[in-house]
Amino acid sequence: MSFDHSGKIAMITGAGSGIGRATALRLASQGAAVAVVDIQLEAAEETVASIADGGGTGVAFDADVRDRSEIESARDGAVNAFGHIDYLVNNAGLVRMSPLDELSEDEWDLVLDTNLKGMYLVTQAIAPVIASAGGGAIVNLATIESEVVVASTGHPQVHYNASKGGVKMLTKALAVELAGRGIRVNAVAPGPIATSFIPGADLRLARGVGLDEGPAPGPARRRTRGRRRGDLVPALGRRVVHHRRDAAGRRGWLTR
Ligand SMILES: NC(=O)c1ccc[n+]([C@@H]2O[C@H](COP(=O)([O-])OP(=O)(O)OC[C@H]3O[C@@H](n4cnc5c(N)ncnc54)[C@H](O)[C@@H]3O)[C@@H](O)[C@H]2O)c1
Repeated sequence: MSFDHSGKIAMITGAGSGIGRATALRLASQGAAVAVVDIQLEAAEETVASIADGGGTGVAFDADVRDRSEIESARDGAVNAFGHIDYLVNNAGLVRMSPLDELSEDEWDLVLDTNLKGMYLVTQAIAPVIASAGGGAIVNLATIESEVVVASTGHPQVHYNASKGGVKMLTKALAVELAGRGIRVNAVAPGPIATSFIPGADLRLARGVGLDEGPAPGPARRRTRGRRRGDLVPALGRRVVHHRRDAAGRRGWLTR
């Protein structure tokens, strides 16, 4: 299914890789100009080059979502380049795996600050810009592990689970608070996706250790079944730009 995002401006954090890059390419292919934000400038520039190869428009910004001044400078750069912002995808994130007994305070802070505090900082900086353009949409990257602990994978990650559980409630609270300013806020909650996020990730292994038996299979997870590894990241990009009607009959998380 294809939609027309011509004239729309999207800012995507962590768009130098994986799901963020796939989302950037998808939105650009549908006409949006994309502010590609990443802590790794070179990776962001590669995404912009891929967007240009497809005939789209993108600009790379070097910003750490944990740093308010870097976010504000990326925001100002995007507004200078494009005039306004309509969509924000809060995608930047990371995972670390440590058993509780070995989990350091520094690692806890890294994961919580990137995955949860970063989302607050970026949304606080960008929401007023979206509102001043007449409203728009925000999509946050949650995970099935915002809901369930997939302990059977043997991956000890209480800090990741805590951060993504927070993303789920942050999303709900923002949706209520920003509705009056014309900004729709949703989250997507993927299952395991083979990106650099999970080095050497093997989805067959993930299924083999019990993800299929877990409760509450989400639509994103169902869509991964039967796909080859190489199909999965673009499939998630489409998911983030997913198009469906909301309760009010409006179409698409990123469509107004
Ligand atoms: N891959 C999965 O299995 C999976 C499943 C569910 C949810 N997610 C979520 O999807 C999002 C994207 O994950 P991915 O799999 O594409 O990972 P990825 O590692 O391929 O991409 C993450 C990107 O975020 C960037 N980044 C990291 N810290 C940053 C910071 N402080 N500031 C700015 N950019 C930063 C990285 O440089 C990288 O380009 C994450 O929020 C992750 O929690 C991933």
